[in-house]
Amino acid sequence: MSVRPSIASIREMTEADLPTVLKIDRLSFPIPWSENTYRFELRDNNAARLNVAEVLENGSMRIIGYVGFWFIVDEAHISTIAVHPLFRGQGFGEQLLQNALIEALMRGAQVATLEVRVTNEAAVNLYKKFGFEVIGERQRYYRDNNEDALIMILNDMNGKISGIRGGGV
Ligand SMILES: CC(C)(COP(=O)(O)OP(=O)(O)OC[C@H]1O[C@@H](n2cnc3c(N)ncnc32)[C@H](O)[C@@H]1OP(=O)(O)O)[C@@H](O)C(=O)NCCC(=O)NCCS
Repeated sequence: MSVRPSIASIREMTEADLPTVLKIDRLSFPIPWSENTYRFELRDNNAARLNVAEVLENGSMRIIGYVGFWFIVDEAHISTIAVHPLFRGQGFGEQLLQNALIEALMRGAQVATLEVRVTNEAAVNLYKKFGFEVIGERQRYYRDNNEDALIMILNDMNGKISGIRGGGV
């Protein structure tokens, strides 16, 4: 049985985190968000929440991933999630997503939604592990390669989230 390292901390993103976040974003997405987009989300978008995950490395905290969601009425829409390539496959994405979903649930979210590239097997599997289901597709949604997006939804958030990694609210 493998032992997974645990995240030292998940906290709200600040503008001081952007240099590191932007580096991970560029390593993770064909169409990364711009610095202005992040600044807008952090400063001006009241519906937006962005969190970073850090681990302790050589005595200091290193940001290794982040997650974002928009909270709209009773819906949490996952806007972004990424883990630095060197830290993937160690359970950090799962922990980031679980933390965001619990936070959304505590703010009153009933459902969570997202879009994901049809070929993004790692992300689709991650979402399915939480109980997200495919409810549709957006044709040619991604402008870099005209790839389709799957639309996924998580109903019964409380019941589903509490079954993952021993969490629960
Ligand atoms: C998607 C992403 C955030 C997953 O983060 P991660 O820390 O590597 O994922 P975890 O180690 O927590 O894995 C959780 C689950 O995801 C799935 N998964 C993760 N990596 C996978 C891979 N390479 N292949 C297939 N499934 C994978 C598995 O279901 C896994 O559960 P398991 O370990 O019980 O099999 C990461 O791959 C990433 O940053 N990708 C680039 C950015 C991106 O595509 N974001 C999604 C946008 S919609």
